[in-house]
Amino acid sequence: TLTQLAPDAVLKAILRKPTHDRSPDDLEIIYEELVHIRALSHLSTTVKRELANIIVFESHPRAETVLFNQGDEGVSWYVILKGSVNVVIHGKGVVTTLQDGDDFGQLALINNAPRAATIITREDGCQFLRVDKDDFNRILRDVEANTVRLKEHGRDVLVLEKVSANPSAAHRHSASSHYKYTVMAGMPQKMLEHLLETRLDARHLSVRDEDIIRPYSSATDMFLDDFLLTHIMFMPTHQLITELMRNYRIESPTQDKEFVVASKSRVVNFVYQWVTSIRDPVFDETITHSFFEQLHSEVHADARLYHTLREEAAMLDHVQELLGEYRAARQQGGSLATLTWTLPAGGQSVVLFSAVNAAATAAASNRKGSGESNAASAFSVEKRRPIRADDDIIFRVYCADHTYCTLRQPVNATAETIKLNAADKLGLRHEELVLAEIKSNGEKSVIADTEVSIATCLSINGRIFVSPKDHLDAMTVLPDQEGPSDGTCNELEMFSTRELAYYITLIDWDLFCSVHEYELLYHVAGAQPFRKIKSNLDLFLRRFNEIQYWVVTEICLANTLGKRVQLLRKFIKLAAYCKEFQNLNAFFALVMGLSNVAVSRLTQTWERLPSKLRKMFTEFDGLIEPSRNHRAYRIAVGKLQPPILPFMPLLLKDMTFTHEGNRTLLDSAGLINFEKMHMLAQTMRTLRYCRSRQLLLQPPTPRSEQEVRNYIRNLRVIDNQRILTGLSQRLEPKRA
Ligand code: CMP
Repeated sequence: TLTQLAPDAVLKAILRKPTHDRSPDDLEIIYEELVHIRALSHLSTTVKRELANIIVFESHPRAETVLFNQGDEGVSWYVILKGSVNVVIHGKGVVTTLQDGDDFGQLALINNAPRAATIITREDGCQFLRVDKDDFNRILRDVEANTVRLKEHGRDVLVLEKVSANPSAAHRHSASSHYKYTVMAGMPQKMLEHLLETRLDARHLSVRDEDIIRPYSSATDMFLDDFLLTHIMFMPTHQLITELMRNYRIESPTQDKEFVVASKSRVVNFVYQWVTSIRDPVFDETITHSFFEQLHSEVHADARLYHTLREEAAMLDHVQELLGEYRAARQQGGSLATLTWTLPAGGQSVVLFSAVNAAATAAASNRKGSGESNAASAFSVEKRRPIRADDDIIFRVYCADHTYCTLRQPVNATAETIKLNAADKLGLRHEELVLAEIKSNGEKSVIADTEVSIATCLSINGRIFVSPKDHLDAMTVLPDQEGPSDGTCNELEMFSTRELAYYITLIDWDLFCSVHEYELLYHVAGAQPFRKIKSNLDLFLRRFNEIQYWVVTEICLANTLGKRVQLLRKFIKLAAYCKEFQNLNAFFALVMGLSNVAVSRLTQTWERLPSKLRKMFTEFDGLIEPSRNHRAYRIAVGKLQPPILPFMPLLLKDMTFTHEGNRTLLDSAGLINFEKMHMLAQTMRTLRYCRSRQLLLQPPTPRSEQEVRNYIRNLRVIDNQRILTGLSQRLEPKRA
C-alpha cells in the first residue's frame, strides 16, 4: 500500500514506524532524505546511516503549539522539515524564527542545561525530525556542529564552540561526555543569561576551588570565572547589576514556580561568587551597595514564599556581612590619618615603605602605650594593606628653578587636578601648563591630563615637574636624581646573604599580595577609563627595577677589583637564595642586573670569579633567556608549587600580547570576543595560583636583622644607564 502514496507520504509512513520495524529498504529511503537536510550536511555518511535507524517523525497540526518550555530539561534535538517555529525567551518575547532546514535543542543536551528558550510552532502543519537524548548522546554529541551561532532579531548574540571538556569533569556528571559548548563570542547581556542558565545551578555548581586557581588546565570550564575576572572590559558594573536585577525579577508566564525559583537562585549564586572571588573592587563600585541591599531584602521576602530560597537568603546575609566589613575597614583607614604613602622625598622609595611602617608603628604604640614601638615596627605589625584609589599620597612637584611644593592628593587624582594644585601652590600663572615626568637621564614625558596614580608610576629616580608648555625643553634634572655617589659594599659584606634574600622576599611577597588581578587589566586597557588605580602593581614593578639597578649601582661604585669580585659573588649567591625561595621576580632582577652591560663588560672582575660561581651564573643566565617566548623560565616555573613570586614583567607582556593581538569587539553591533577574555583571565588566574598558599619561609638566624631590613627597604640606586656605563669604563677601561 505504501507504494501508492506520494513519495512524501511514504517517507512519513516509514518514519512513523517503530524504529525496530524499519527494513533495509526503509533505512535507505530515510537516508536518501537525510542527505538533503541542511542541518545535517556536515555529518558523515556513517552518522547519517546511524541516524536513519533512530530518527523519528513528529508533526503538529496547529500553530501556537509549544514543543517545550524554557527551563525544561532537554530530552531531544529537532530538525525542522516543514513550517517554522518561534524562539521565545522570558522577559524578551520572540527573539528569532527558525525555518525548515534549521535545527534546535542541542544546547540543553550538550551542556546538560535547562532549555534556553521556549519553542512554539508558527503555523499549522509543522513537521519535524526528532532525535531523543540517549541516541543524540550516542551518535551526535561528539560530531554535532562545532560552532553554534544563536541569533536574536537578525544578529548573532552568542557564538558557541564545542571544546573537549576536562576528563575529570566527565566523572563529575556522569551524563556528560567529552565535549561541551563554550562561549567564543557574545553580546554581554546574552552571555550573562547563558552563564546564569548553564553554569550557576546551585545543584551542581561546577567550579571547584582547584579549578579556579590552577591556570594551566585550559580545558576546564572557566566561563564563570572568566566572566567575573573580565566583565569590566565589556560590561560595566552598573549594566551588570541592572541585568542581574532584571534576571532576578523574571516571571514565568505559565506561573511555573520551579522556573522562577531556579532563576532567582542562579542570580544569587552569581552574586555570591562575584563578591567572594573579586572582593574589594566589587564594593569599590559604590553603586553595588544599594543593589546588594535591594536584592537582600527581595530574597528574604521571596524566601517566605518559596522556602527553598532560604539558603540563598543566607548567602546574601553573608554578602551583607562582607559589605559591613568593607565599610568598617574604610572608616578605619580614614581615621588613621597617618596612613599615607609618601613619594618622593630625596631617596623616594624609602618613604614609600616607611610611611606605612610609621602608621603601623603609631597604631601599635597607641595600643600598647609604651615606648617599644620601634622594635615592633617593620615586619611583625606591618602587614601592608593594598593601596586604594582614595588613599592619600604625598609627593613633590618641581618647577624650572628646582623649587617644589609638596602635595597630598588621593591616589586617583588626575594629572589635571595635580597640575592645577601645584601651579596654585607654586604661584605659577600661565595659560598652558603641562605636567611632566623628568627621568634621571633627562628624558621628559608629558603626562596626559586624564591620567591617574601619577606618583606611583614614576621611574625610580624620576620626578614630577610642572612647567609652561613651551618651556619644557629647558627643564633640567635635579642633582639628587643622579643617585648615590658612594657604594655600600662595606655594609653589604657584613650582612648574611640568606638574611638579605629573606627580607627581600618578604617585601616582595607583601607587595605581590597587594596586587589585585584587576590591576593587570588596568595595565593593558588603561586605568583612566575605569578611573581605577594600579598602584600596587606599579610598586611591585618599581621594586623589580630597583633591585636590578641596585646590583649595577653597587658594582659600578666599587672602586677596587677585590670589592667588585666580592660583590659579584654576593649577588650571584643572593640570586641563588631567591630562586630557592621561589622569588623568581627578584631572581630575574638580580640576574638581569648582573647581565647589564655596565657589569658584564668588567672582564677583569669576571675573570677573578671562582669557576663554581661563574658556572652558577651561566645557568641562571640561561633561565632568564627570553628566546622562544621565555621557554626556559616557563618550564621551570611550571614545575613549582605555590607560593611563587612570578617574574611579573612577563605576565604583563602576556597580558599586553593578548590584548593587542585580539580585538575586544568583533562587530559594530557589540559582539564581544570572549576568547580573548578567556586568555586574559588565564593570565590573571596565574596570580591567584602563585599566592594560593601562604609564604612560610624559615626565618634566618637573626644576625643584624634591623640593619638588614632597613638596608633592604632603602635601596638607593643610579638608574641612568649612561652614568653607570661611564663609571664602569672608568673602573676597567677598554684595553687597547
Ligand atoms: P536548547 O536550549 O536546548 O532549547 C532551545 C533552543 O533554541 C536552543 O537549544 C537553541 O537550539 C535554539 N535557539 C535559537 N536561537 C536561540 C537564542 N537566541 N537563544 C537561545 N536559544 C536559541
